[in-house]
Amino acid sequence: MIGLFFVIFNDVCSNHELDSQCEHMWRNKTILMKNTMRILSIGLVLVTTTFGSVMINVSARKTTNLNGKWHIIIDPYENGYYNYRYEPSTNGYFKNAQQQNRWDLLEYSFDTDEMLTVPGDWNSQQEKLLFYEGTIWYKKSFDYELPEKRRLFLYFGAVNYDAKVWLNGELLGGHEGGFTPFQFEITDRVWKKDNFIVVKADNKRFKDAVPTVNTDWYNYGGITRQVLLIETPESFVKDYFIQLKKNDRKIVAGWVKIDGNHLAQLIQIDITELGISERIMTDKAGFGRFEIIKEPVLWYPENPKLYDVKIVTGDEIICDKIGFRTIETSKNEILLNGKSIFLKGISIHEEAAYQDGGRAFSENHAKVLLGWAKDLSCNFVRLAHYTHNEAMMKTADEIGLLVWAEIPVYWTISWDNENTYQNAENQLTEMITRDKNRASVILWSMANETPLSDMRFTFLSRLAAKARQLDDTRLITAAMERHYINKTTQMIDDPFGKIVDVLGCNAYIGWYDGLPEKCRTMTWQTVYDKPVIISEFGGGALYGIHGDELTRWSEEYQANLYRENIAMFRKVDFIKGISPWILKDFKSPRRHLPQIQDFWNRKGLVTDKGDKKQAWFVLKEFYNKK
Ligand code: GCU
Repeated sequence: MIGLFFVIFNDVCSNHELDSQCEHMWRNKTILMKNTMRILSIGLVLVTTTFGSVMINVSARKTTNLNGKWHIIIDPYENGYYNYRYEPSTNGYFKNAQQQNRWDLLEYSFDTDEMLTVPGDWNSQQEKLLFYEGTIWYKKSFDYELPEKRRLFLYFGAVNYDAKVWLNGELLGGHEGGFTPFQFEITDRVWKKDNFIVVKADNKRFKDAVPTVNTDWYNYGGITRQVLLIETPESFVKDYFIQLKKNDRKIVAGWVKIDGNHLAQLIQIDITELGISERIMTDKAGFGRFEIIKEPVLWYPENPKLYDVKIVTGDEIICDKIGFRTIETSKNEILLNGKSIFLKGISIHEEAAYQDGGRAFSENHAKVLLGWAKDLSCNFVRLAHYTHNEAMMKTADEIGLLVWAEIPVYWTISWDNENTYQNAENQLTEMITRDKNRASVILWSMANETPLSDMRFTFLSRLAAKARQLDDTRLITAAMERHYINKTTQMIDDPFGKIVDVLGCNAYIGWYDGLPEKCRTMTWQTVYDKPVIISEFGGGALYGIHGDELTRWSEEYQANLYRENIAMFRKVDFIKGISPWILKDFKSPRRHLPQIQDFWNRKGLVTDKGDKKQAWFVLKEFYNKK
């Protein structure tokens, strides 16, 4: 643990050159440090159990972004956190330096070390970090003049995978899970000058994590989304949910949650274009509900109507753009605004196109990826296999794409580990909390391709119950597998199918399972009277490789595989949507084939440079005629 001080307090010294002045300054800090160490060691225990709830719609608030260059220390052995016995330590280098007054023993210096850009994964920023999995320390200094009667929060869009955060040498807390936001209140800890944030970001994979050690995507590590300082009034609008009442397109309903010391107050919901200006009183817990009889223009992919919504309190106005629609099922139909719809989709990993590469995080990244999906004539996207950044959801709202959102309960999760479940449930809660006002999101997916077992059924059923408790307006799904009941019949009868509203099913006929012509004799059955989405099918092709329809890795092979699979799925009446795998080639450490894959999964319909393969045109033609 003392090593951590190294990383933190050395930073302070190095801000002022490591000399007698620093030593003098340091002695004054020693007392602070000893006290802080006790806090740190206590804080360490808390870190693994505290998940804070996060305010929503951060872009609508008074924010200062801390994006840009951060100093880093690459620390594969976590020297800044453990001693040589691998315990949070009071020894470490620093203790020796202090005891022996040997400042030459200092072996860290943030401000003369390297830098990384935030937001952004480290793997795609530096060649030497391409496969790095471990800890990198980040440090950022800032000044902040916080006015009286105002509060300040430090917000992270995401850190993959495990984050521990200190401000001015004090542990704020931690977060586990690489794809959802978290925040810490720093109102009483922020200094006017020379604040410094230290983040320990660790993307090591481990069995009981969510996801577990084995995935088919790149383990992009680091502060992968934006970091904001968010200033709020003493009492502020922390959370709200404004939608059409479930299964009633004539009632705009919702609730607002105030945080602070003035919880019971009169607030106003304004939707001027609908002639709504509704005053409600929040209760002593800060909670207020409303229902207003109104018939908004409904949100559709082909007409993504968004309304300007304002929540007005005595201290602030929070603005949002919200679409109104209903989503439900009736037997094996999916009904958008009461009308049956076929989901013409594509799966997407959160990986930026063109020269950016790496984890996508920005509005521009979202506009490229989702613009391609619109270009493909999609009305639907499966954002696999984890919660994508908020720009993806807001862009889908604006350009008109329905969304399957997902948490990374992927493959062989530790079903019997309660900490693993709590982590999964927390990531689910953070996803739904952040995105529940996005009309585009219609499906919450609990999992992908998880092996059948009683523990898995219990684990996923608990998640589904939690999702419905948080949001009973959307549909619950998961990507499951199928199995043969004879040589030519696929059966979809996953026990979790009893719990979900819509069944996802992944099937690679013509790629992992026979040749594309095998589709011609295949039939499909399900034991459920529920809609099925083929949440994955596809095959690989290296752009520019040509041959006949049996030449594996050629564009012709992939195009023919799409033709055969589409012809097969068209014959199955309970299939109400497809999201083929996948929009864009994406990086994966599992894909080695030299000169073909080179650590890329080549099932994309476009390359990372946007070159369209022949299969793109096959799928687009099908969607245009659907
Ligand atoms: C699986 C899995 C994907 C993976 C794909 C593939 O279905 O869900 O994450 O990338 O197959 O093999 O390409």
